[in-house]
Amino acid sequence: MSAETDLGGAIKVPVELGDRSYNVWVGPGIHRELHQVIPGDVSRVAVITQAAVAEAGITVDPGVEHRVFITDDDEHIKTLGAVEELCREFAQWGLTRRDAVVAVGGGAVTDLGGFTAAVYHRGIRVVYVSTTLLGQIDASVGGKTGVNLPEGKNLVGAFWQPSAVLCDTEALDTLPTEEMRSGLGEMAKYHFIADADLDSLGMTERIARCVEIKAEVVAADERESGRRAVLNYGHTLAHALEADGGYDLRHGEAVAVGLVYAAELAHRTGRIDAERVDEHHRVVGGYDLPTCLPDGADADALVSLFSRDKKAVDGVTFMLDGPDGIQPVTGLEPAVLRETLEAIR
Ligand code: GLY
Repeated sequence: MSAETDLGGAIKVPVELGDRSYNVWVGPGIHRELHQVIPGDVSRVAVITQAAVAEAGITVDPGVEHRVFITDDDEHIKTLGAVEELCREFAQWGLTRRDAVVAVGGGAVTDLGGFTAAVYHRGIRVVYVSTTLLGQIDASVGGKTGVNLPEGKNLVGAFWQPSAVLCDTEALDTLPTEEMRSGLGEMAKYHFIADADLDSLGMTERIARCVEIKAEVVAADERESGRRAVLNYGHTLAHALEADGGYDLRHGEAVAVGLVYAAELAHRTGRIDAERVDEHHRVVGGYDLPTCLPDGADADALVSLFSRDKKAVDGVTFMLDGPDGIQPVTGLEPAVLRETLEAIR
């Protein structure tokens, strides 16, 4: 791992993007070091967070004049209305382009805070203090920001890289089990993206390694014109299960089933051997995540939802494992997609 240790003993993972490069710091209690990563010329900071995050003991001091903006606690805060409200409050306060936003919380808060920073005064700096596993290994790294529309998730957004990211692993101790499971599904994905030996690592090192894998992918393809799509491994079925909405599944649980499905599809189409499929079952099962379709899943409905996936620009596209690693595969027969769904019931 190229990561090095610094800043309160945390692990540093650089995200190399030329003059927009930044560091992700991973470690217990790292939110207390926030003042050290606020850019030196920033004089005021708008802290965006949720009451539940503060109640879990995560309050921050950016070391400069700041105001705290508390959003609702539910996951549906990612709206254009919330962006307008925050921007108006920033304007009334007099926040300028030289100032910064700090978003403290899970992926919903960092997506909202990042997008608000991206559009306020045509873009001000943003720092994330990420407090959930899902946020730490996915949302807070790579510069995707955005909000939802009634028509779909993340349909309005911008690529806007943060100035720094703090992933506080102490915050995970207070995370509800189902929220932790959501992150573990994404973590399982990283076992296959870089064929990483994550099994031998403790939690903090494992998070840092996942961030490092994502940072490498983002550095190679910031705007998702190619390689970055590998981060959607397992997500086509996951998005269909989530879009269907009839199943009581967290995002990570849906991704977990999606990973097993992708492996079974790759095997049926001759890309990987049975041993590699077993490896998917072992990794996903090792996180105590589901490897089968939820009860009552409607295979026909799921197959038709595959083509409505927001990422499906060229017909149904699956990211499938194979001799050249995980690659986009199009043109899979609906009958094969359906049979493979039946095989993982
Ligand atoms: N969550 C996938 C990506 O950041 O590209």
